[in-house]
Amino acid sequence: MRKKIVAGNWKMNLRFDEAKTLFDELQGINKKNVEVILFPSSLYLSFFSKNNHSSIKIGAQNSYPTDNGAFTGEISCMQLKSLGISHVLIGHSERRMLFFESNEFLKLKVDEALKHGIAPIFCCGEPVDVREKNEEIAFVSQQIEASLFHLSAAEIQKCIIAYEPIWAIGTGLTATPEQAETMHSTIRALFKNQYNQDIAESITILYGGSCNEKNAHELFSKPNVDGGLVGGASLKSDSFIKIINAR
Ligand code: PGA
Repeated sequence: MRKKIVAGNWKMNLRFDEAKTLFDELQGINKKNVEVILFPSSLYLSFFSKNNHSSIKIGAQNSYPTDNGAFTGEISCMQLKSLGISHVLIGHSERRMLFFESNEFLKLKVDEALKHGIAPIFCCGEPVDVREKNEEIAFVSQQIEASLFHLSAAEIQKCIIAYEPIWAIGTGLTATPEQAETMHSTIRALFKNQYNQDIAESITILYGGSCNEKNAHELFSKPNVDGGLVGGASLKSDSFIKIINAR
C-alpha cells in the first residue's frame, strides 16, 4: 500500500520565532496512516531536526547535486543527511522558473538524493498556456520521463511525485478533483508502462496548488490523489491540521 502524505512547503516564509511557534503547534499531530513532512527554510533544518519529538518528518526545499566543493550558498544531500533530513523537494516550479533548473539538472539532483538515502519529492506541472492548449499530459509526461525514467525499479519506488499545475500555485485557483485525478492516473499509467503495475501502484502522488482546508477532502478522496503538497495553507497550524485530517 502506498503512503498517504501531507507535506507543508513553507517556502521563504516565517521568521525563526514564528517558525518555532508553528512547529510547536504541530508537534501534537498524531494521525495514523498519514505521514506529515515539513519543509522549512534550510536555515532552520538543524534546529527542527534536533527538537522534533513527533512523528513529523523534516525535509529540505533544495539541494545541490554534489557532495561538497566550491558552490557558494548551496546545500548538499550529504550535509542534509548528516542532520537527519529524510526528504527533499526537487523540481518545484519556482526552482524551475526562477532559478532555471532544467530537467537534466533535476535528474542529477534526484540521483544525488537517492545516493544519500533521501527521498525526493519530484514536482511536475504545466503552465497555464500549456493547459489552454490541452497539452498538459504531454508536458508533464516529458518532465517525468526526462528526470526519472533512468532510475531502476528499486530507485523509482523511493521517489514521491507531486503534481502541481503552475496556474494553481499560490493563485487560489485549485485544479478540480477531476483535473487532478486525470493527471494523477496518467502519471501512474506512465510508471506502469515504464516499470510495472505493482511499482506504479506503490508510488505516492501528491497534489499541490492552492490546496486548502476547504478543498482538501474532495481532492484527497480521488483514488489516485495520495495527499497534498501545501504551500500557503501550511503556514497556519489550524488550516494545516484540518488538511492533515482531511486525508
Ligand atoms: P500553494 O503552494 O499551496 O501556496 O499554492 C503549493 C506549492 O508551491 O507547493
